[in-house]
Amino acid sequence: MVGTMTARTPRRSFTWPWHDRIGRLSPLRLVVFASLLAPGLWLFWRAVAGDLGARPYDEAIHQSGLWAIRLLFVSLAVTPLRVLLTWPRLVTVRRMIGVAAFGYAFLHLGLYVADEGVDLVKVTSEIVLRFYLTIGFVAAAGLAVLAATSTDGAIRRLGKRWRRLHRLVYPIAILAIVHYFLQSKLDVTEPVLMAGLLVWLFGYRLVARAGRPGAARLFGLAVGAALITAGIETGWYAFGTGADPLRVLAAHLDVGFGLRPALWVAMVTLGVAAAALGRKTLDRWPLPLRLRAAG
Ligand code: HEM
Repeated sequence: MVGTMTARTPRRSFTWPWHDRIGRLSPLRLVVFASLLAPGLWLFWRAVAGDLGARPYDEAIHQSGLWAIRLLFVSLAVTPLRVLLTWPRLVTVRRMIGVAAFGYAFLHLGLYVADEGVDLVKVTSEIVLRFYLTIGFVAAAGLAVLAATSTDGAIRRLGKRWRRLHRLVYPIAILAIVHYFLQSKLDVTEPVLMAGLLVWLFGYRLVARAGRPGAARLFGLAVGAALITAGIETGWYAFGTGADPLRVLAAHLDVGFGLRPALWVAMVTLGVAAAALGRKTLDRWPLPLRLRAAG
């Protein structure tokens, strides 16, 4: 949820989300804004059409929770993608994505409260007594703090402390994943996938300390993240259900069980590495050739 104010940026009192800082239409911001709104509108449409199944609140809580965590992850991916794809303008949509993640988390909490008949005493006692809800609450409170301090004014006021405060997004992502894991009944495919992507994001922060990572470091990071993901899934089933760890590991090699999260993590992160490599090669071309390649 980072802003990009500089001392020279002309400030406007109000800009639409699809405008850039000087009030021009930004196609990137427009597309991202529409994409962020789409899941919420789709959920609203399904609710109006009576298409949320036998337990509409349950379905709406699930969908809003899923979009909250997905968007939180997309917001975390902005910095690596901006650097690796040499796409500086991507940073202009990070704040919007982060705030949308909070919006879906807030909707998720609101739907939960509504489902409990707006009985705030019951809601509070549930949040205090049920560990996965306590964790979700702390994550939601953290997101609220980050969203509230995402304005240009807050960025200016907090100065250097702002960056430190917004690093909290990583522990918040961990809490959100733990909340997701704990509420999952049997199938933990998506939480494991997200945990693996978070491992990659943490790893990226480490390897990027020495500058933009090259092919070898990105390849190593992708393989490492995939192996740790396989370890997380194996550990979860072994400790949680007593499943034989060797059989869980073997399932990674059998596509009959569907592609396991470790393979998804490998595919996604190797894809990022390949795209970064392609971009780096393109950046080395002379400008006229680059322009021709861009059409
Ligand atoms: C006070 C805050 C929160 C409350 C009360 C809450 C409550 C719930 C409830 C009741 C469920 C469904 C559990 C079930 O069906 O058994 C759920 C699921 C979920 N929540 Fe939360 N939650 C909170 C915060 C968050 C936050 C901050 C995030 C993400 C950023 C999040 C993401 C999710 C996800 C991904 C699921 C699973 C959805 C699915 O598998 O379909 N929650 N939460």
